[in-house]
Amino acid sequence: MSFGVRRMKIFVDTADLDEIRELASWGIIDGVTTNPTLVAKSGRSFKEVIDEIFDIVDGPISLEAMSEIAEDMVKEAKDIVSTIPEKHRKNITIKIPMTPEGLKAVKVLNKQGIQTNVTLIFSANQALLAAKAGATFVSPFIGRLDDIGQEGMEIIEEIMDIFTNYDIDTQVIVASIRHPIHVIQAARLGAHIATIPPGIIRKMVKHSLTDVGIERFLKDWKKIKK
Ligand code: G3P
Repeated sequence: MSFGVRRMKIFVDTADLDEIRELASWGIIDGVTTNPTLVAKSGRSFKEVIDEIFDIVDGPISLEAMSEIAEDMVKEAKDIVSTIPEKHRKNITIKIPMTPEGLKAVKVLNKQGIQTNVTLIFSANQALLAAKAGATFVSPFIGRLDDIGQEGMEIIEEIMDIFTNYDIDTQVIVASIRHPIHVIQAARLGAHIATIPPGIIRKMVKHSLTDVGIERFLKDWKKIKK
């Protein structure tokens, strides 16, 4: 299906390989975001998990760099790149935390053609700085803002306004999504990407009236003389 020139992408926010395989088979997954918490939850080794994700999804796959100093982040990113088979390298995206050291690393990695996803963004100012440094993606965590009583989606609106004003080509990944309404709001604001946990994608596909409708059709189909 085509969305025209502008196309909202859906990434799945998980390291659960069965879920990634199933949802990819629905034809709706454009990329994957992982973090150490998600990989730990999968119960498999980091290497095992990432090798398989790259085989399943042909789109940006975000992997977190855990160093805190720019130089180390750059080294870690390059080490990650070297472990991924050549054919998948175009999809590697290194998650870099939103800190001054992170910005320095983004600047270097951008020059070296390595995609970055600046993560743990909680304000439009942080997104603006990450974009200026050369981030491929920025990830504002809206659910965690909601958790502390701040309307997370407001910063998505601000970021989209700012990026549109200046034709900034950094893409906005709406992250820390907690329910299907977040996805609708992100889409209405024109966010480039929503990264969504599998459980929420499963809620998005369901509607009780769809189930009732199927049940009724099946019942009536049985009454028809074939
Ligand atoms: O993509 C970011 C996400 O993994 C964080 O989500 O629910 O831990 O705030 P959450």
